[in-house]
Amino acid sequence: MKLIFATNNVHKVQEIRSILHDQPEVITLQEAGIDIDIPEPYDTLEENASHKAKTIYQLTGENCFSEDTGLEVEALGGEPGVKSARYAGEHRSFEKNIEKLLLRLGENTNRKARFRTIISLILAGREYRFEGICNGEIINKLRGGSGFGYDPVFIPEGAEKTFAEMTLEEKNQYSHREKATRKLVTFLQTLKKP
Ligand code: IMP
Repeated sequence: MKLIFATNNVHKVQEIRSILHDQPEVITLQEAGIDIDIPEPYDTLEENASHKAKTIYQLTGENCFSEDTGLEVEALGGEPGVKSARYAGEHRSFEKNIEKLLLRLGENTNRKARFRTIISLILAGREYRFEGICNGEIINKLRGGSGFGYDPVFIPEGAEKTFAEMTLEEKNQYSHREKATRKLVTFLQTLKKP
């Protein structure tokens, strides 16, 4: 089976491919010859994920999926949440987003945060959704050079390293994206059974 992944984020493609190992095979937008930047106009991860997957389904008629992820910080009432990519403005800079996050958190001792991923899968025209959550905490200095987004300031529960200090395989042991993707895989496997 092949699924088009409705994203232009190379990090997300890399992570999801490392989880799926070609079962199913993931086709990027670029590989499918689709050159669009799909907007995320809604106030929830669920609606944005649906919107991205449905856009690609309407364009291609092919089975596809998308994902939307947000970092939800308890002391900030769930911010940046659905605005995680554009927290510091429309220019989408990882550095500026982290700067704003650390400034807003200041010396607050409640550093609890979670990543939440929603995957929207469109299979034969029907939508299915899967959620993955990774609890953790925000540290006040950046650590590590791998990954993307808020990875340098996020330590998942049960770990000592930030996501940015981990290999892809280590991040997958904890990650929100891995959990949502695993649910998608389990769902696809149940479909194959007679
Ligand atoms: P979106 O799902 O494309 O809207 O991305 C939301 C934003 O959340 C990204 O631009 C990143 O800044 C951040 N983000 C999403 N997933 C991760 C992750 O696994 N680690 C760190 N930051 C992430």
